[in-house]
Amino acid sequence: MKTIGVIFDLDGVIVDTAKYHFLAWKSLADNLGFEFTEAHNELLKGVSRVRSLEILLDIGNLELSEEKKQEYLISKNEHYLKYITQMGSEEILPGVISLLDNLDGLNIEYVLGSASKNAPLILKQVGLFDRFKGIVDGNSVSSAKPDPEVFLIGAQKLSLPPENCIVFEDAIAGVEAANRANMTSIGIGDAETLNEADYNYNNLTELPQNFFNMFLAEKV
Ligand code: BG6
Ligand code: MG
Repeated sequence: MKTIGVIFDLDGVIVDTAKYHFLAWKSLADNLGFEFTEAHNELLKGVSRVRSLEILLDIGNLELSEEKKQEYLISKNEHYLKYITQMGSEEILPGVISLLDNLDGLNIEYVLGSASKNAPLILKQVGLFDRFKGIVDGNSVSSAKPDPEVFLIGAQKLSLPPENCIVFEDAIAGVEAANRANMTSIGIGDAETLNEADYNYNNLTELPQNFFNMFLAEKV
């Protein structure tokens, strides 16, 4: 039997934090005097905090000093944390708990591979921190998705070669990172948007019950 492992993205796969990122970025855009829409927010999915600010400033056609950028990165995160610290287990997305239970039952280990520097806090807020074998977050990487680094470190934590790892992702940059890492990519969300993924599901409840068995049965 093949040994496989799973790497989960956090935002958009385990919890929906995009709505809180949106409120915090929108408030910054409001203060800077330009419009920031939900469609704009889509561009920030899976992207690091620093890159998100750069994209936001491009939308507003603004150029700022390094000092100002640092100031806004801090104030945006402080605003975001106000929402995050109110989160509880009710914010875990449908299908997550039964998927983790399924993996535990099959003795398949899983780690987190997220761009967020707030990932440990968010997992603690929703009561899932202790379930993961390891956490790779925005603090542990030097290159952000679509660079494969975050997932390659995840494979190391699982003590598995990349080709034995299955990645759940909701962002284009994340699917690309998984593919570049030579892992199996599962796109969660719109199949057209995530058309580079090896498998597509609208959400985790759609995953077939026996999904992992076919990977376990593969001979390597
Ligand atoms: C990703 C989100 O998971 O984390 C991005 O999809 C976000 O939208 C990134 O910019 C960084 O998050 P944080 O919590 O470090 O600001
Ligand atoms: Mg995501």
